[in-house]
Amino acid sequence: PAAVVVGIDGPSGTGKSSTSRAVAAKLGLRYLDTGAQYRAITWWMLANGIDVDDAAAVAQAAGKPVIVSGTDPSAPTITVDGEDAAGPIRTQRVTAAVSAVSAVPEVRTRLTELQRAIAAEAPHGIVVEGRDIGTTVLPDADLKVFLTASPEARAARRNGELKGKEAADLAATQAALIKRDAADSGRKTSPLAKAADAVEVDTTDLTLEQVIECVVTLVEDKR
Ligand code: C5P
Repeated sequence: PAAVVVGIDGPSGTGKSSTSRAVAAKLGLRYLDTGAQYRAITWWMLANGIDVDDAAAVAQAAGKPVIVSGTDPSAPTITVDGEDAAGPIRTQRVTAAVSAVSAVPEVRTRLTELQRAIAAEAPHGIVVEGRDIGTTVLPDADLKVFLTASPEARAARRNGELKGKEAADLAATQAALIKRDAADSGRKTSPLAKAADAVEVDTTDLTLEQVIECVVTLVEDKR
């Protein structure tokens, strides 16, 4: 079959990453986590002493870090200037700063170009997950999915992912999630939004396996 391009968007904690990886693995497609790229650029800004709330400074530095994403769904990788960034991009420090960095148009332009190039190179196709894939990065995707879930379900899932001492209480996790989603939805440049032609899947009462099955079926229907 021809290469198939799938975009999966939605707010944090809806199961985008787990779903996207599993769907890509099942269908023999590549997998790209665009959130990891926004986190990687944010990590680099913090490590290089750039004030993430200074949009002009962030814009000026946006082109500097070399970000490379490995797109094997069974072992996705991300490096910044050749250094493995998979661990550091998941810290709360990066999570708290990423919305400010990702709102800067120069950052978005740069990563959008990178994402389109990666998608174009995927031989059998790719599952790309993020916030603006269906609306901006890949408007011609064969399938667009928008995942949602109640704030309570999203906070519970995200808390389960946080390790050891970083695990916060549920209320704090939920408050942080809602704040980040509001920032992502409210920014001017390619905000978090459902594309008009996206299929919305409410995952609140579904198991991960059910969501994966649902998306696999949607992809197969498009082939
Ligand atoms: O998906 P994840 O939670 O890792 O994304 C981290 C952040 O990266 C989001 O909160 C958002 O600010 C930004 N992001 C974005 N556009 C994307 C993917 C992520 O702005 N396509």
